[in-house]
Order: sequence, then structure tokens, then C-alpha cells
Amino acid sequence: MNLNSQTFSSSRKPKNFNNPEHFIEGWYWIIPSRNLRVGQVKPVTILGRELVIYRGKDKRVATFDAYCPHMGAHLAEGKVEGNALRCFFHHWKFDAEGMCIDIPCLDTPLSLKLQTWPTAEKYGMIWVWTGEIPQQPLPFVPELEQEECDVAIHSHFLMNCHPSVVMINAIDAQHFNTVHELPIEIIFDGQELNENAIIFSNITPIKDNPFFIKLIRLFYKKAITYSVCYWYGSIVIVTLGPDFFHVHMMFAVRLHEGGKAEGQILLLTKKRKGFFGWLSNRVVLWLTKIAGKFFLMGDIKIVQTIKFDFKTPLKVDQPIMQFINHVEKQQSLMWGTWQEARSRDVESKPKRERWQDKMSND
Ligand code: FES
Ligand SMILES: [Fe+2]
Repeated sequence: MNLNSQTFSSSRKPKNFNNPEHFIEGWYWIIPSRNLRVGQVKPVTILGRELVIYRGKDKRVATFDAYCPHMGAHLAEGKVEGNALRCFFHHWKFDAEGMCIDIPCLDTPLSLKLQTWPTAEKYGMIWVWTGEIPQQPLPFVPELEQEECDVAIHSHFLMNCHPSVVMINAIDAQHFNTVHELPIEIIFDGQELNENAIIFSNITPIKDNPFFIKLIRLFYKKAITYSVCYWYGSIVIVTLGPDFFHVHMMFAVRLHEGGKAEGQILLLTKKRKGFFGWLSNRVVLWLTKIAGKFFLMGDIKIVQTIKFDFKTPLKVDQPIMQFINHVEKQQSLMWGTWQEARSRDVESKPKRERWQDKMSND
């Protein structure tokens, strides 16, 4: 592990970590799927870029840059026709690939294409890839990769700090003792899953005291799983529980205006069959919500007022430094324009094929 504390020195600004002008190329949530019905079109601003999304008759969602290439009308004023979108102003029509397919005052439309963005749906959310071609899969819970999931879309939040600061909370071992008063020494083992994902697992047996732990101890003596998976340096999935019962929480965060963090919390569990499966999942998701509250309590206060400046990392902060190094290696884009902040230094074709394979297995 590279524990290069230069990462934090004020003489060198991090490329991605805690940088309010950059974000990592990746999949980002737009809105919950249920908020966009067939035939609906909506304006959205994601990572500083104005977009329009709509759901065609075939139920697929398309994402375009927001303004019409004719005279700049906002396309969200337009109308969905079949699988295409027609501009409100002079009725130019664009198909889901962004091709202009009709200009009412011309016999043949001009050869024009809107800027489109790869769009997909997973875990009850619509996601957009912030580059031309997706290089990696949609974020998934590693343990549930092959499973169908039951998802509860929990709260939406805005925090007065950079998404990076929200992210590291889950692997900040010291604060579990000081803020959450857990009498445990957490030792994380970090492993990169791919270029854009990293998992930290805790394998330390948990001893002692608080009510929450005592309750679990009545039924269970072994180590309690606490694992944290990051995607695109901006989404964190926390998995918690004894080995026979895990709860999963996803905090999907985007860099908002002014370097703030805008996030969506999802609670996830494996889909269980039948009515009783459905019922037990309601209980599981409710328990997940309680676990989530337990973890958020206390942190809220600090992330609203912190002026993050990680000047003095200790050995116990190693996982945070490993996360920062992982984040710094990823492709950086400019907030607002989505232009590359630095050229990609790895070739992309094999990864692209891998992503397509995964998508077709979904
Ligand atoms: S501005 Fe869209 S068709 Fe004219
Ligand atoms: Fe915390």
C-alpha cells in the first residue's frame, strides 16, 4: 500500500479527492425510476450539466443534453412521441439515439445528432454514464451481484461537504470509537475489485459492550461482518451483520454546486419468494433503516461544519489513505462540462467488452 502523505500536502492539489471542480467518470444516479413514467420528459442537472430525460413507449429511458440544436429551446418543454422526443418550439423530432428524424418544414431532416448519454436502470434508480461509452458496470453490491434485489429508496440528502468527506466516514476507524462509542478496534483489509471499485472488509472479532452488539451477541458469537465497497469514489455500499444475515446500505453521492454532496440512500436485500418472502424483506429493510440511522447519528453534525484538511494522517488512517490513492488513479472529469481533466492512461477496449457481457447477464 502506498502511504504517500504527499497526497494531502497543500502544495499538490488532489486530482479527484475532495476537489470541488472534478469528479470521476462513472455511473451516477439521476432520479428514482418510479418518478419517470412512460411518455414523461423531465429536466435534470447532474454534476453541473443540464440534461433532459424521457421514457419512451418501449419503457427505455434516454438522456440528452438539454437544449435543442435548432434554436436552443429546452427539450424538457417538448413531447414524447413513441420512442422519440419532439421539441416544443419548431417541432423537430429526435429518436432515442439523438438522431434528428423529422423537421416539419423540410422533406428530409438534417443530418444532426444530439449529445446523448448512456442510461440504464438498476436498484430502482435511473443512472447515467458520464462519458461516451460505459467502461464499467453499474454499481452493484458485490455479495448480491448475481441476485435479484428488493430495494427501498430511502432519504435524499444535501451535505455541506465534498462527497469524498462523506465517503471516508465508513472507513474512518477512529471515529467508530469516538463518535459512535463502539469499543472495537477495526482493522480493514482493502482490495481493488476493478479500476473503479474497492472493497474494505473488517475481520476483527467484535467484543464487548453497546446494546446493539449485546443484542446480536445473544444469538451469535463469531465476528460481525462490516464491509464497505466504493464505486467511482462517490458511492459507498456498507454491508453489516453476522455471517447468516447481512444488511446492505448504499449511499450514492454526487458532487453538487459549491462542492457540496448530494446523495440518495438505498436499502437493499436479496429478493425472497412468495408473500412471506416479501413480508420478511419488509422487516429486513426496516432493520437496515435502523442500522443506517445508528451509523448516521453523530456524523451529520460534523459533516455540516467540517473544513476538511487531512494534515496529519496516523497509521490507523491507512484505509482512508488507500481510498484516496484509489480515487486519485481514476479518470477525472470537469464538473459542469464533463470534459476530461486529464487523458486516460489505460486502454479501454477490454473493459468495455466486459461491461457489455455483464449487462447482458442482468
Ligand atoms: S428550437 Fe427546437 S425545433 Fe426550434
Ligand atoms: Fe459514522
